[in-house]
Amino acid sequence: MASCSISSSFLLGFLVLALIHFNGTNALSSNYYDQTCPMVESTVTSVVKKAMLNDRTVPAALLRMHFHDCFIRGCDGSVLLNSTQMNQAEKDGPPNISLHAFYVIDNAKKYLEAMCPGTVSCADIVALAARDAVHLSGGPTWVVPKGRKDGRVSIASETRQLPAPTFNISQLQQSFSQRGLSMNDLVALSGGHTLGFAHCSSFQNRIHNFATTQDVDPSMHQSFAASLQIMCPLHNKVRNAGANLDSTPTTFDNRYYKLLLEGKSIFTSDQALLTDSTTKNLVTKFAYSRQEFEKAFVESMIKMSSISGGGQEVRLNCRFVN
Ligand code: HEM
Repeated sequence: MASCSISSSFLLGFLVLALIHFNGTNALSSNYYDQTCPMVESTVTSVVKKAMLNDRTVPAALLRMHFHDCFIRGCDGSVLLNSTQMNQAEKDGPPNISLHAFYVIDNAKKYLEAMCPGTVSCADIVALAARDAVHLSGGPTWVVPKGRKDGRVSIASETRQLPAPTFNISQLQQSFSQRGLSMNDLVALSGGHTLGFAHCSSFQNRIHNFATTQDVDPSMHQSFAASLQIMCPLHNKVRNAGANLDSTPTTFDNRYYKLLLEGKSIFTSDQALLTDSTTKNLVTKFAYSRQEFEKAFVESMIKMSSISGGGQEVRLNCRFVN
C-alpha cells in the first residue's frame, strides 16, 4: 500500500516536471546571462544604436521582427532562418517579405559569439533588440526575461497565421487569444504602429474599391484618405510607395492613438480597435495618456516576448540551424 502511494506520488511529480518542461513556463529569467555573458545587453544596445544612426528605419524593423517571430512557433528565432533548397522559410512567407534589418541581429551575434561562444540565443538577441529599438526611439525601457532557445523549424506557409491588416476585431481577438494575449494586449501592442511604414498593398483595401457603392472606407478621414490615394494610385507601379504609420514614424509616442481617433489610421485592423467598446476605451485612454500607454505596452511586450517556442539550441549563426 505504502509503496503504491510512493510510486504514484513519484509519477505525479514526474508528470508535473514534464509539464513545466514542455510548457517552458520556468524557462526565462532576467539574470539568465549574468554569469555566462554579462556584456550581452550592452553589446546588443550598441549594435542597435550604431545601425539606427545609419538608417532610421531600423528600430521599426526590429520591433516588427520580434512580433513576427513570437507569433509563429513562439519566440524561437524561426523568423531569422534562411530558406534552403529543401524548405521555404518564414522569412520568405508573404507577410515577411517586407521585414528587414536582419543584418543588425547578425552583427550582434557576431560580437556575442566572439565574447561568449555558443551562449546567447538568436531569439534572445531579437527580444533585446526590439526593447532597445523602442527605448532608443524615445519609448520606455524594461527588463527583458531571457533564456529562449532557437528553433530548428521555419516554414513559409505558417506565416498565414499572422494577423492580416484586413482583420476585423473578432479575427484580431482570436489571433491574440490563441497566443495567450488579451484585448488589452491587442490594443497596447497595436501601439507598435507608432513606428514605421506600410507599403500601399497593405492598405489598398481601404482606399480603392472598398465596397460596391463606396471607393473609400467611410471610417477614414476624407482628406487623409485622399492623400493616401495620391501616394498609392489604384494601379501603383512604384515598388516602395506607401505611407508612414503615424506622423512621427521614428518616435515612439502615443500619436498613433490620437490619429486613430481622428480616422487617420492606416490599416483596417487599426480602425477595428474602435469597433468594440472595450478596445475603444483603451484607445481613448492611451491617446490621452502617453504614460498609461507606455505602462501597458511594456507589460504586453513582456507577455508577447515570453510566448514559448519549441527551441532546443543556441544557433551559432542566426540564419542557419546548427
Ligand atoms: C494587431 C495586428 C497587426 C497587424 C494586422 C499588423 C500589420 C502590419 C502591416 C501590414 C504592416 C506593414 C507591412 C508593409 O506594408 O511593409 C505593419 C508594420 C509594422 N508593424 Fe504591425 N501589425 C500588427 C501588430 C503589430 C504589433 C503587435 C507590433 C509590435 C509590437 C507591430 C509593429 C509594426 C511595426 C513597427 C511596423 C513598421 C515596420 C517597418 O517600418 O519596417 N505590429 N504591421
